[in-house]
Amino acid sequence: MSEAKRLAGEKAIEFVEDGMIVGVGTGSTVAYFIDALAGIKERIRGAVSSSEQSTERLRRHGIDVMDLNDTGPLSLYVDGADECDPHKRLIKGGGAALTREKIIAEASERFVCIIDPAKRVEVLGYFPLPVEVIPMARSLVARHILAKTGGQPVWRQAADGTGVVTDNGNAIIDIHGLSIVDPIAMEAELNQIPGVVSVGLFARRPADIVIVGGEPPVVL
Ligand code: 5RP
Repeated sequence: MSEAKRLAGEKAIEFVEDGMIVGVGTGSTVAYFIDALAGIKERIRGAVSSSEQSTERLRRHGIDVMDLNDTGPLSLYVDGADECDPHKRLIKGGGAALTREKIIAEASERFVCIIDPAKRVEVLGYFPLPVEVIPMARSLVARHILAKTGGQPVWRQAADGTGVVTDNGNAIIDIHGLSIVDPIAMEAELNQIPGVVSVGLFARRPADIVIVGGEPPVVL
């Protein structure tokens, strides 16, 4: 599958125009995009990054990482996804970077999503839905999720058995067992729960373009 990710990441370079500040997502597919971006780094002004992980990779390539507060709106955001439905609505956050990803997606005129074919689904929800939560609200939010969605909330753990801590210092709850027939409604409902920072449903602001990696890549 990494070959499909590479092909998707490299295809996204076609959407980068001279002088752009490029919004950059997080994950293994985006890593291929960053590596390809390095090849044209003289043509861009810099990048706005959605995670410490991507910032580190961008800087290693000598690409200037800028603050969204200084850049203002962006023309282009490129990011991966965990699931993508036929309406280009997404589940994201497998890499725990959903909040910054959502902020940059909102700030961008065009969101190009790069995926491998396995990410395409008819109905979102087979992939557990990530929710970033203020640590003290973890149990409260989990109870609300149980009552409101019927899904199973699971506190995401790191490999060492401690709770995952996001770049923003928060926890992640993954909701298992969902079949999300109305993603816009579910995104709004979960966002209402006190303590929820953001929800990994990108339905209100879906992708504009989806590139499915393959030989050749398919642009939707
Ligand atoms: C990170 C994300 C990623 O875009 C998503 O998890 C896909 O990752 P990968 O490209 O490694 O499959 O949302 O928070």
